[in-house]
Amino acid sequence: MKMWSGRFRQPLDPEFEHWQRSFDFDRRLLRYELAASGAHARALKDAGVLSADELISILQGLEQIGDRAASEPAFLDDGEAEDVHHFVEKQLAVLIGDAGYKLHSGRSRNEQIATDLRLFVRATIDHLRHDLAELCGAVIDRAEQTGDAAMPAYTHLQKAEPVLIAHWLLAYVEMFWRDADRLADCRKRLNLCPLGSGAVAGATLALDRGFIAETLGFDGPTANSIDATSDRDFVLEFANVLSLLALHLSRWAEEMILFSSQEYGFLGLPEAYSTGSSAMPQKKNPDLLELVRGKCGRILGNATALMVTVKGLPLAYNKDLQETQEPLFDSATTLLQMLPLVTGWMKSVEFHLERMNQAAQSGFMNAWAAATYLVQRGVPSRLAHERIGKAVQICLERNCELQDLPLHELQSLSPAFSQDFYESLKLASVLAMHDVPGGTAPARVRHATSAARKRIESLREEVHAHEAHAHA
Ligand code: ARG
Repeated sequence: MKMWSGRFRQPLDPEFEHWQRSFDFDRRLLRYELAASGAHARALKDAGVLSADELISILQGLEQIGDRAASEPAFLDDGEAEDVHHFVEKQLAVLIGDAGYKLHSGRSRNEQIATDLRLFVRATIDHLRHDLAELCGAVIDRAEQTGDAAMPAYTHLQKAEPVLIAHWLLAYVEMFWRDADRLADCRKRLNLCPLGSGAVAGATLALDRGFIAETLGFDGPTANSIDATSDRDFVLEFANVLSLLALHLSRWAEEMILFSSQEYGFLGLPEAYSTGSSAMPQKKNPDLLELVRGKCGRILGNATALMVTVKGLPLAYNKDLQETQEPLFDSATTLLQMLPLVTGWMKSVEFHLERMNQAAQSGFMNAWAAATYLVQRGVPSRLAHERIGKAVQICLERNCELQDLPLHELQSLSPAFSQDFYESLKLASVLAMHDVPGGTAPARVRHATSAARKRIESLREEVHAHEAHAHA
């Protein structure tokens, strides 16, 4: 039976009927639909609409639907189901007869889809935060293994200053950490339950909304039925948080691609995540990285599609909102699949420490440290900068580095130079000089590494706590 055939005299155009369905994609929400339906059924029993026996058979029916869907994928090939809500109602009636039709008392699909989507986004957030903790853990492990080895840091993609490799890797941990934090923030705001909002004006039965919300692990019921049935802010917010995460991954991928090129030679690509060329026998290509960079495009596209879909929609529910599901699912799937692969890549990439460390010692990356040497001997910074600039100019003509200039020549540029200047130009001195919180001095980086590890540990604990709650 359709969910709304009473007032219609004519059947639907078959093509339209087929085209307007959402079951092909919203079947993904089945477990949330079943959970929400269970909570609604309990509230119906408390409101006196269902008898105790009816409640039991509805709950058993819902459980059977879930079990069958899990064990028998063909069960979901239902040619008649319009959407996941219709599917559950239909199957329930098959299993327990007319009592199944009582489940829909006092509720609307508008509040159901809003609830299912919130539950889906919440569970996906927990999953992604878990994956981000794993990724950050792997990056921190790799950072630690690189010890005090250095590499060039670039600005404008020109050699700038040497940094510890660990310092560079920890920059990504900061980005992913913020992503995990934004997801938590999004979770906090979405964790209110629309059930009991009805179609738009609130339920027509005296349902205990606080009880329903609590049963589903929400912090409470939503405050306004018009908003609750039409709001997809949480979907947009989530999709935009994912966009930022995808942007970070895309920047990460781009750097890894660059650094794995022969010109840099900083990284050895893991064979398990690379492919060859069908034409050029020597090739090993960074396919994982390129796909990560490429998939950022669809995730940004999905976020844009979602925002444009909602733009200008009058309150409250409109069927346009059905169009918010596929972009949401696509972004979620894309990242759920991608993050564990990125973690796997991170665990197996080879850092060519020797070559990176070597690259950190040429190209005048000690020039600012050299200017600082003069500043510490009382030379005004602007003049020191200019003196060292002159010295660089001489070196460029001679094709050498600052440390190759003889002292008497340096002293003709500034009397402040003396023998200890050469010590201050060495890689270890240059690194140690950046001795501020957040700087690349080795002691600071060691501290930052253990601080990052602690933060990731607490992220893991938070995710576990949510998981324990979800399974309770
Ligand atoms: N499949 C619909 C959606 O995704 C469910 C809500 C339908 N509500 C309605 N009034 N037709 O939005």
